[in-house]
Amino acid sequence: MRLQTFLWTLLAGSLGANAHPTASQPSGSGQKSECNNPAPTPPYGSSYDRSPECWHSPAHRACWDGKHNLWTDYEDLSKVPKGVVRKYEFTITNGEIAPDGYAVSKMLVNGQYPGPKIEGNWGDTFEITVKNKLTNGNGTSLHFHGIQQLGTNRMDGASGITQCPIPVGKSMTYKWRANQYGTSWYHSHFSLQYTDGVVGPIVIHGPSSVNYDEEYTLMLTDWFHTSAFTLFYNEVHGAPPIPDSKLLNGKWKFPCNSTDPRCLSNKGGFADIVFEKGKKYKLRLINMSTTFMQTLWIDGHSFTVAAADFVPIEPYKTDVINVAIGQRYDVIVEAKADTCEQTDFWINMKNCLIPPGAPPVECSAEDARTGIV
Ligand SMILES: *[C@@H]1O[C@H](CO)[C@@H](O)[C@H](O)[C@H]1NC(C)=O
Ligand SMILES: *[C@@H]1O[C@H](CO)[C@@H](O)[C@H](O)[C@H]1NC(C)=O
Ligand SMILES: *[C@@H]1O[C@H](CO)[C@@H](O)[C@H](O)[C@H]1NC(C)=O
Repeated sequence: MRLQTFLWTLLAGSLGANAHPTASQPSGSGQKSECNNPAPTPPYGSSYDRSPECWHSPAHRACWDGKHNLWTDYEDLSKVPKGVVRKYEFTITNGEIAPDGYAVSKMLVNGQYPGPKIEGNWGDTFEITVKNKLTNGNGTSLHFHGIQQLGTNRMDGASGITQCPIPVGKSMTYKWRANQYGTSWYHSHFSLQYTDGVVGPIVIHGPSSVNYDEEYTLMLTDWFHTSAFTLFYNEVHGAPPIPDSKLLNGKWKFPCNSTDPRCLSNKGGFADIVFEKGKKYKLRLINMSTTFMQTLWIDGHSFTVAAADFVPIEPYKTDVINVAIGQRYDVIVEAKADTCEQTDFWINMKNCLIPPGAPPVECSAEDARTGIV
């Protein structure tokens, strides 16, 4: 416990000491003509329409296709929408990337990090062919996190449990149906490979317990500049791997030491999303971390939580949310911040998980500024 406390204190101190070189106040603030004429409140339906004619639309998100809605029993495959078949081809390779401006060797899906989005509708069948073209001898497998796999257990992708790893030079096609809807992620389930890059988002469109106009997917993660296969040995000897960095949608700006040849000044930066005043945005939050819980908040905005993992929930309002590893939350943010004062707002994320027995510090001292609205 003493060692752990020490590490957390060290972490808080070291991250806090690295003042973020480029994280100044976002620019773009200024007076706007609409400041004197605030946008009218859109006519959102506040009560749920459960009629059989109701179709999914910004004012009726609880509905789906006239027959199915938020109250459909998705654990009965015969009751969910029929859907279509959607096919994906993923090739896993080794590659050099610098998502936060620091060059690292990772493993990639179709040459990119994070991997391509798997996206479709409630009831669709997904066929994902995975080819292993790694050059480090690693096998691979893909796990579709949270997918219930009703009747398709062997498509779960847990190598060593539901399948052997896909060997170098071979491929495998996963086939499953999305009986639930919401936000999730896929990741390699071969050893520590997901920490080394083999991850991507899953978006299954379906009903929502809160109305919204548009949506964004936000992938949150801690990030390591050393391979997880190396860090694992540190952990075996008692110390949890402390992340070097963090990423929002695969981006951040690591406070680099300019004499380090791995620091690439032209790489890295902040992920940003654009809000239009008066509109409601669904943010699909996915925690792809390995070590850290992430606590997320957006300057000047509160939000309504609409779903946890693949389960729509009774909505509640908050202005901060903890997302544990593997967890997902769909939150609805209304763009109604006072844009007369400023037009750009930080999306903040830091580790607020205080380990048992640790001194009561207020989260970690790390710079929380991670992305920009
Ligand atoms: C997988 O790749 C990692 C990183 O390159 C390496 O350290 C590890 O030994 C490999 N494991 C296997 C079983 O190939
Ligand atoms: C920057 O990197 C160089 C070379 O690796 C090292 O000698 C130096 O101590 C580092 N400086 C800081 C502030 O970390
Ligand atoms: C992601 O999960 C890790 C581990 O539980 C946690 O430390 C981190 O705070 C989580 N991220 C968010 C945004 O909650």
